[in-house]
Amino acid sequence: MVFRLWSACVWLIYGAAAFGSVQVHAQVNNEKWQQAYAKAKTAVANLTLSQKVSLTTGEGFFIGNCTGNIPAIPSINFPGLCLEDSALGVRNVDGNSAFPAGINMAATFDRSLINQRGVAMGQEFRGKGVNIQLGPFVNIMRAPAAGRNWEGFGGDPYLSGEAAYETITGIQSQGVQAVVKHFINNEQEHSRAISTSDVDDRNTKYTCTLVQANVASFMCSYNQINSSYACENNNTLNGLLKHELAFQGYVMSDWFATHSTAPAANNGLDMTMPGEVFPGSLVSFFGLSLQLAVDVGDVSHDRIDDMATRILAAWYLLGQDQDFPTVNFNSKDANSNINKHVNVQGNHASLIRTIGAASTVLLKNERNALPLRAPKSVAVIGSGAGANPDGPNGCSDRSCNKGVLAMGWGSGTANFPYLTTPLDALTNRSALDGTNITSSLSDDDTKAAAKAAAGKDVAFVFITADSGEDGYIVEWNAGDRNDLNAWHNGDNLVKAVAAVNNNTIVVVNTVGPIIVDGWIDNPNITGLVWSGLPGQEAGNSLVDVLYGAYNPSGRLPYTIAKSADDYSAKVNYDLHLTTLHIPYTEGLFVDYRHFDQANIAPRFEFGFGLSYTTFAYSGLSITGSAAGGNPRSGYGASLDDNLHEKVITVSFTVKNNGTDAGHEITQLYLSPPASANSPPKLLKGFDSVLLEPGQSQTVQLQLSRYDLSIWNIVTQRWEIPSGDTAVLVGASSRDIRLTGNIHN
Ligand SMILES: *[C@@H]1O[C@H](CO)[C@@H](O)[C@H](O)[C@H]1NC(C)=O
Ligand SMILES: *[C@@H]1O[C@H](CO)[C@@H](O)[C@H](O)[C@H]1NC(C)=O
Ligand SMILES: *[C@@H]1O[C@H](CO)[C@@H](O)[C@H](O)[C@H]1NC(C)=O
Ligand SMILES: *[C@@H]1O[C@H](CO)[C@@H](O)[C@H](O)[C@H]1NC(C)=O
Ligand SMILES: *[C@@H]1O[C@H](CO)[C@@H](O)[C@H](O)[C@H]1NC(C)=O
Ligand SMILES: *[C@@H]1O[C@H](CO)[C@@H](O)[C@H](O)[C@H]1NC(C)=O
Ligand SMILES: *[C@@H]1O[C@H](CO)[C@@H](O)[C@H](O)[C@H]1NC(C)=O
Ligand SMILES: *[C@@H]1O[C@H](CO)[C@@H](O)[C@H](O)[C@H]1NC(C)=O
Ligand SMILES: *[C@@H]1O[C@H](CO)[C@@H](O)[C@H](O)[C@H]1NC(C)=O
Repeated sequence: MVFRLWSACVWLIYGAAAFGSVQVHAQVNNEKWQQAYAKAKTAVANLTLSQKVSLTTGEGFFIGNCTGNIPAIPSINFPGLCLEDSALGVRNVDGNSAFPAGINMAATFDRSLINQRGVAMGQEFRGKGVNIQLGPFVNIMRAPAAGRNWEGFGGDPYLSGEAAYETITGIQSQGVQAVVKHFINNEQEHSRAISTSDVDDRNTKYTCTLVQANVASFMCSYNQINSSYACENNNTLNGLLKHELAFQGYVMSDWFATHSTAPAANNGLDMTMPGEVFPGSLVSFFGLSLQLAVDVGDVSHDRIDDMATRILAAWYLLGQDQDFPTVNFNSKDANSNINKHVNVQGNHASLIRTIGAASTVLLKNERNALPLRAPKSVAVIGSGAGANPDGPNGCSDRSCNKGVLAMGWGSGTANFPYLTTPLDALTNRSALDGTNITSSLSDDDTKAAAKAAAGKDVAFVFITADSGEDGYIVEWNAGDRNDLNAWHNGDNLVKAVAAVNNNTIVVVNTVGPIIVDGWIDNPNITGLVWSGLPGQEAGNSLVDVLYGAYNPSGRLPYTIAKSADDYSAKVNYDLHLTTLHIPYTEGLFVDYRHFDQANIAPRFEFGFGLSYTTFAYSGLSITGSAAGGNPRSGYGASLDDNLHEKVITVSFTVKNNGTDAGHEITQLYLSPPASANSPPKLLKGFDSVLLEPGQSQTVQLQLSRYDLSIWNIVTQRWEIPSGDTAVLVGASSRDIRLTGNIHN
C-alpha cells in the first residue's frame, strides 16, 4: 500500500472566516514541486512583465493548433503550451482511441484498470504533442439527469477521488499535465453560466473527496458559488484550493468563464482560456488588461510572478522542458498540412475491450440466462444494437443518439477510430456455435420487434439514454436529460419483446440511471446488462460478458432508483432572466447516502453487480489505532502527514465458492458515530480480487485518520468524532457481509 501524502485532499466549501491577506503564495512543500519551482523562479526572473502576462493568457479561440494555446517565449526556451480536450481521448484529431467514459471507469472499481487507461491516454496526448489534457472530470453525480455526469465517476466522492487519483497519476506518468475539472459545484448544464450554486457549510455542505496526485492544474467552472464566479471566488480558489489544500499548480478558467481582471487574478485565477472575453472579441480580461492592472497596482508584481511561476512550475514538474513532441495536428482543421495524422493508438484497443467488459454491470440474471450456451436462435432488437447510419462520428461532437451509444455528446468526446456494434460482434461470435441471429433494429416498430423475438431461444433488447454538454440539443434534451426514462420508446420496446419471449435480456447503454420499474419484475425478463458508455470496443466488450469470456465484475457507481423522485437532488430547469439559485439543500446526502438516510429502497443499490460465480466472506479483523493524530488547521491542513497516515488495517477473507473464475469487488463502508451527523454509510475502501473457483484470499484495506475524520467548521480542521465507528465490509452498499468497530 503506497503512502500517499499528496494524494488525498478534499473539496469542500467552508465558511468565510476573517481572512488576513489578499493572496496566497504557493508554499513549496514537496520535493518534486520544489525542484520545479526552483527552475520556474529562475525563468520568471528573466521575463518582462508582458512575457509573464503572455503565460497567463490564451492566444484566442480561433488562433493556434489546439483548443487552447499559450504562446512561446523563445528567450527561456519555452515553446508554448497546447491544451486539448477531452477526459476520454484526444478530441478533434484522427489516429486516436476512443476510451470508455469516466462513468464506466468508476463501474470497474478497479484501480489498476483506471490507471492503465490514464497511462494510455497520456501516451496518446503526448504522441500528438499535447502538453495539457483537459481531464479528468470529477463533478459529482448530484442530479442524476445532469448532462455531463457520464464524463465523471458517479455519485460517491470517495470513488470519484480514487478514480481521479489513478487517472491523474496515469496521465502524468507520461509527462502530460492533467487538469481536474470543473472547480466547483458545476453539477448541471441548464443555466450553467448564469447560476449560483448555494452551498452551505458542513452539515448541509457538499463535500467531495478528490485525490490531488500532484495534478498540474484545476479548471474553475462557469457557475458562481454563493453568488461569486468560480473563476474569481476567493473562498474556493485562494481559500480552499491554494491555502487549505496547499495546491502548488495553476488554476485555468473554463472556456470564457473569466469575468474580470484584477478580481480574478487576485482571487486565484492564474490562466484565462481560450484568451479573449467572448468568442471573436479581440480583448482579454488578462493580456493587456492584466498588464495595465499590474502597472497601476491593482494586481501586485508578486501576484503576476506567482501566476507565471505556477504555470512554468507545472511545465517543469512534468519534464516538458525536455524532448516534448511538437504539435502535429490542427484541432480546427483535420485537412491542414500541419496534421501529420500520427497514429497514437498503440495496442490500446485490447485495454479498451477489457475495460469495456470489466465495466459492464450484470443487474439481473434469472434461470441462468447468462452466460449464453450455444443458443440455437437469438433475436437482436433495437437501434442501440446497430451502427449510426452516418458513421460513428456522423454527428458533430457525438450530438445524436443513433446506433450503439458508446459516449455522450459535447466537448468531453473524441472521434471514434471505429466502433464495434453489438449486432456485428454477436453475429461473429454466434457463428462459432451455428446460432441463427435475427434482428429488428427499429425502435418504433414494436410489431416487427415482437415478430423477430417470438420463438427465439434468447431475445436481446437494446435501449439507451443519452446526454451531454450545453450547446447541443439532442432530441429535445438541452445537455441535461429531460427525465430518467429510456429514450426512443425503449420501455415499450422491452415490453413488446417480453410479451412474446420468456428469455428476454435487456442491454442498456446509458449516461446514468434510467428507471426500469415499468418492466424489471416481468418474469420473462431474465437478464439486465448495464453496458454504460464503453468506448470503441462496445460490441466486443459486451459479447465477452454475454458469452462468459469475461466474468462480469462491474458495480454500479450510482443508485438506480425505483422512481426519479427518490433522488435527493434534481436538475433545475427554470428559465431565469437573473441569476438562477441552485441551493444544495441535500448537503452530504447524495446518491446512496440519501437512500440510506431516508430509508428508501432503491431498485439497484450503489455498488451492486452480479457475477457468474459467488463469493463468501469471513474472518474480519481490525487492527491499529487512530489515536494521536494531532489535527491542525491553517495552510495545508487537509494534506497533513499525520492525517493521511494509514493507521488502521481491516482484513478479511474472500472465497470464490462457485464454479467460475471471477473478480469480486470488495467494499468497505464506515458508519460514523451519531454525533457526527454523517450519512449512515460512507464508502472508504474497495478492491478488485481475482479468484479461481475454490480459491480464497485475504484482503487488506487500510484506513487513515482522514478516512475517519469529520471537518469541524469551528476549529477549521479534520477531527475524529469520539465513539464507535462501525466498519461494514461487503459486496455492495446494501449487501454487508461482515461488521466490526473502531473505537475512538
Ligand atoms: C457559502 O455560503 C454558506 C452559507 O453562508 C457558507 O457556509 C459557505 O461556506 C459559503 N461557501 C463559500 C465558498 O463561500
Ligand atoms: C536568468 O536565467 C539564467 C539561465 O538562463 C540564470 O542563470 C539566471 O540566474 C537567471 N536570472 C535571474 C535573475 O534569475
Ligand atoms: C501549429 O503547429 C505547427 C507545427 O508544430 C507550428 O509550426 C505552427 O507554428 C503552429 N501554429 C500556431 C499558430 O501555433
Ligand atoms: C482570500 O483568501 C485568502 C486565503 O484564505 C485569505 O488569506 C484572504 O484574506 C482572502 N481575501 C479576501 C479579500 O477575503
Ligand atoms: C466480424 O468479423 C468480420 C470478418 O472476420 C470482421 O471484419 C469484423 O471486424 C468482425 N466484427 C467484429 C465486431 O468483431
Ligand atoms: C434463421 O432464422 C430465420 C428466421 O426465423 C429463418 O428464416 C432462417 O431459415 C434461419 N436460418 C437458419 C440457418 O436456420
Ligand atoms: C412470457 O412469454 C410467453 C411466451 O414465451 C408469453 O406467452 C407470456 O404471456 C409472457 N408473459 C408475460 C408476463 O409477458
Ligand atoms: C419458455 O418458453 C419456451 C417455449 O417458447 C418453453 O419451452 C419454456 O418452458 C419456457 N420457459 C419458462 C421458464 O417459462
Ligand atoms: C457461497 O457463499 C455465499 C455467501 O456466503 C452463500 O450464500 C452461498 O450459499 C455459498 N455457495 C456455496 C455453493 O457454498
